Amino acid sequence: MAKTLWISDVQSGSFNGEIIELKGWIKRHRSSGKIIFMTIRDSTGEIQCVAKKVDMKEEQFESLKNALIESSVELTGLVKSDDRAPGGHELIINSGEIIGAVNPQNPFPITESAMEQTEGGETEFLLDNRHLYLRTSRMTTMLKIRSTIFGSVHNYFRERDFIEYQAPSFVAGAVEGGSTLFEVPYFGRKAYLTQSWQLYAEAAMPALERLYTIAPSFRAEKSRTRRHLTEFWHAEMEMAWAGNKEIMEHGEALVRHIAKTILNERSEELESLGRDLDLISRYADTPYPRMRYDEAVERLQGMGVEIEWGQDLDYSKEKILTQDFDVPHFLTHYPKIAKPFYHRPDPDDEKYVLCHDLLAPEGYGEIIGGGERTWSEKEILRRIDEEGTPRDPYEFYIDIRRYGGVPHGGFGMGVERVCSWLSGADHIREVIPFPRDSRRVTP
Ligand code: 4AD
Ligand code: MG
Repeated sequence: MAKTLWISDVQSGSFNGEIIELKGWIKRHRSSGKIIFMTIRDSTGEIQCVAKKVDMKEEQFESLKNALIESSVELTGLVKSDDRAPGGHELIINSGEIIGAVNPQNPFPITESAMEQTEGGETEFLLDNRHLYLRTSRMTTMLKIRSTIFGSVHNYFRERDFIEYQAPSFVAGAVEGGSTLFEVPYFGRKAYLTQSWQLYAEAAMPALERLYTIAPSFRAEKSRTRRHLTEFWHAEMEMAWAGNKEIMEHGEALVRHIAKTILNERSEELESLGRDLDLISRYADTPYPRMRYDEAVERLQGMGVEIEWGQDLDYSKEKILTQDFDVPHFLTHYPKIAKPFYHRPDPDDEKYVLCHDLLAPEGYGEIIGGGERTWSEKEILRRIDEEGTPRDPYEFYIDIRRYGGVPHGGFGMGVERVCSWLSGADHIREVIPFPRDSRRVTP
């Protein structure tokens, strides 16, 4: 029995002259009466395969000859090194079998020429066929980078003794303001899908002290932008005995760690997307500057952007601000009126809160939001009342302050925001398998 190999192993050159078996899908196919050329792909790569009528059983040759794109196959043959073949090797087939045939009445809808015209997965056609688009090389590459980024977030926190901790997805109140809350009927009552793990993480802060998660968060974002999803994956951390500065240092170290990890583990994939590796290594190595909100507003006004002090920066403004950044920048000390109640007012000037956003360069904008929490009972009650928020859903949250409150803080990082920035994607939809926005919950 021939050994079954991954295509990347065959392309490594260690099996030249051996008879081996491959399992995969037909990506390209052309044939004349006596010879078939196929490109076969698996999750690790592609290889050119050649079948000659004289070398094979008639019946097998005919079935391979008639096979359509995306049929699955098992092939056995001789590995030959060939400089002209993409990847440097080809397989000379001596036997082969179609495992899952594609019906000629219903060929694979995503053709290579359609793909070339729709670089970036932007069209409705590709979104409608998302379940099939996943197997194209661009999407496969994005999903590999995404997986590496998830792994690097876990590594970062676990190596520093953070405990992974889970919060409920059904909740009774808002974290990030009511306008983006998803309401769900809940047995005759109203519940909401959580916008953030944070409030429930704060409840466990006196138990675990350092905690993190990666979980879906939900936002009823009506506007469709290149940076917003209604369901996104949220990496969040919470830490006892820490202030804004220490939390920011973790945010910076985490993003650098992610950049370093994909550089080490996914440089081939990044290059195949046309990404400049020097940029990624700069993001891994150069310190991220800090700037106060007020300075950012002045800069924007200097660029002719209409913005008033007190407004939060939306994506359109962040885009302008970050166009010329060479590395991510922290913006700190936002006006209290621009941020939710949980942010701690700055004791030096109560107009501001001790918070930070990390803005990615190249026009990508916010990837992290975090800061120090209002941690005394008196102050949290005042902030909740100032906002006109009902106290009821937050009683559990206030209790955290009633029983041994301590200074603490944390941040949330949008994993898809980071994936799209680091991979250079045009649109956040490109880096999540089944993107959700205000118009789409299918497939
Ligand atoms: O700035 P946000 O709203 O902060 C929070 O949710 C805090 N409770 C986090 C915390 O302190 N634990 O969201 C955090 C990050 C943003 O910086 C952004 O990267 C991402 O979540 N994000 C989104 N990503 C994709 N689509 C959306 N609609 C997003 N909304 C926020
Ligand atoms: Mg934010």
